[in-house]
Amino acid sequence: MVSNPIKTVSGSLARAMPFAPPTDKCLSGRMANSDDAIHAGITAHGFVAFQAADLGIPDGLGQAARQLVDYGRPGALPPDPYDPTGCRHRVFCQLLYNPHTDQLIVPEPYLQDGRKVEPYFQSSTYNCQNGGVLRYLDALPAALRDNDFMHWLVRRLYAATPGEALRDCVWLCVGIHLLQLLPEPGGMAAATPNCLHQDGEAVTWMLMLHREGIEGGVSYVTTSPWVGKQPEEVSPDDMLATTTLLAPLDGLGVIDERVAHHVSPVLRRTERSGCRTVLIIDFSELIPFRAMATT
Ligand SMILES: [Fe+2]
Repeated sequence: MVSNPIKTVSGSLARAMPFAPPTDKCLSGRMANSDDAIHAGITAHGFVAFQAADLGIPDGLGQAARQLVDYGRPGALPPDPYDPTGCRHRVFCQLLYNPHTDQLIVPEPYLQDGRKVEPYFQSSTYNCQNGGVLRYLDALPAALRDNDFMHWLVRRLYAATPGEALRDCVWLCVGIHLLQLLPEPGGMAAATPNCLHQDGEAVTWMLMLHREGIEGGVSYVTTSPWVGKQPEEVSPDDMLATTTLLAPLDGLGVIDERVAHHVSPVLRRTERSGCRTVLIIDFSELIPFRAMATT
């Protein structure tokens, strides 16, 4: 039985950016005054929730950060062609990062029928709803591929990742998703898979970009055996965290093999706009296809 090291606390921290103060619950697993509270939290517990101020964003990156956050607004992202409901919008790209030289490579997207796309594959083991097929998703816009804050964020979150979570290799794959849920008035929209799951990447970081006019979107972290289940099925001792990312750049990081995670569907409250957009940055080892075929 895993004891729950987490209790919720509230409070505001010194702001790194001029955003509205967060009202979300934070997790006491982090060490607010350590050199890197995010690294300390995820190392200790296999997951961590944090606020923008915990990232320590340099002053000179405020404008680039705002440009990224603005992509979270309704209408800024194209529909996900693999979503039959039409409520999910998204863009994606995959970067290469060499932690030994700090080199970050941003490959050009593919051109498919005049559309800039990026191939994305997720095993059906990890996504029973959309896994097992190669998907071509709209590519991250050029403005974000070259965005200095995005590049800084990749390096910052790699630095927060415990060494044991990633095998030492020359190149890492960095997946970057902007995922937006736009339910119809009175309707619901869900992320996929819509259950507790692991992603298949070694470490996943989720950051809030924009949230308005919706209810739900609650993030859950549990012990690993609850993959495939709903949060209400989880025994209290195995429910490690329940939190809602509210303010821009509020975040949650998880080490895939240590925990399962889930975000609940969102319900649009009114006729006015309703939207939840997150940035997901994940890290995994770059494994040659030939090596994959023999393991
Ligand atoms: Fe996930």
